[in-house]
Amino acid sequence: MKPVVLVTRKLPDAVEARLSRDYDAKLNPDDALYTSDEIIERAQGADAILPCHTEKFTADVIARLPDSVRVIANFSVGYDHVDTEAAKKKGLIVTNTPDVLSDATAELTIMLMLGAARRASEGEKLVRTRQWKDWSPSFMVGIQMTGKRLGILGFGRVGRVVAARARGFGMEIHYNDVNRVAAELEEGAIYHETPEDLLPHCDFLAIHCVATPETTGLLNAERLALLPDDAIVTNASRGVVINDEALIAALKSSKVAAAGLDVFNNEPDIHPEYRELPNVFLMPHIGSATRETRDGMGFRALDNLDAVFAGKEPGDRVA
Ligand code: DGY
Repeated sequence: MKPVVLVTRKLPDAVEARLSRDYDAKLNPDDALYTSDEIIERAQGADAILPCHTEKFTADVIARLPDSVRVIANFSVGYDHVDTEAAKKKGLIVTNTPDVLSDATAELTIMLMLGAARRASEGEKLVRTRQWKDWSPSFMVGIQMTGKRLGILGFGRVGRVVAARARGFGMEIHYNDVNRVAAELEEGAIYHETPEDLLPHCDFLAIHCVATPETTGLLNAERLALLPDDAIVTNASRGVVINDEALIAALKSSKVAAAGLDVFNNEPDIHPEYRELPNVFLMPHIGSATRETRDGMGFRALDNLDAVFAGKEPGDRVA
């Protein structure tokens, strides 16, 4: 008998085809957003769950999952939506999908940097609403990326690809992470031991750290004050890293010239003031949303499931 896999969202066709070939897959063709109670109910008799970050596996949800479930194989690199300690206690294996989304997320980050610095939201609105009337030397003047200093908070896989792409703009790369990375991964990037050390060097700040209790609210008013005036801030990791009130105040005072944000606290009900600010370039959590990467994420999640059901250690085990 094939293992039963509860799939919480609609996945790419090629991924669902492989799922249905190798598993008794309980698919979600309508892409309905299941509540926790629905997940628990649908998981009855399932051997595995293949969720996205949109489903929250709190300690309570995990405790209520049927004992038949052995593995949560996430379709995401981030796994802050899963209480991994609770999963470990219940004997659940948890996996994620690293690497396959680094290029897509780095591309999106470059777009956030350019979109914020070159005032893409304002410009597009002018054209779409027929308010664009003229050209002048002082019209829609933004900030250039070329040759500036880029500070990367979180120098993991995505952060390092962002650095590689930014070098194409002649940017000087600075970074902070919990540990300094090996010289061959640094490729000349300048390490700073703390976020406080890094921030004064960031004409552009790109956030790529994982969401943990330590990084929650990390970019607060005190740390924003350490940025050079007119800095550009982007975030393509998780919204919790930013204190929204503090960033909004910095955007209003022009301490931060502009921000490019793909992730938010409390998605999709983001802080309403972001929608009102002209100097924010907003995207709806689409860092990994390319055809290539969606397939890659699905196949990586399936590689992890295949390993578990073959009695092997999955490559991307996080709990
Ligand atoms: C990830 O993989 O973590 C992306 O944010 C989508 O969930």
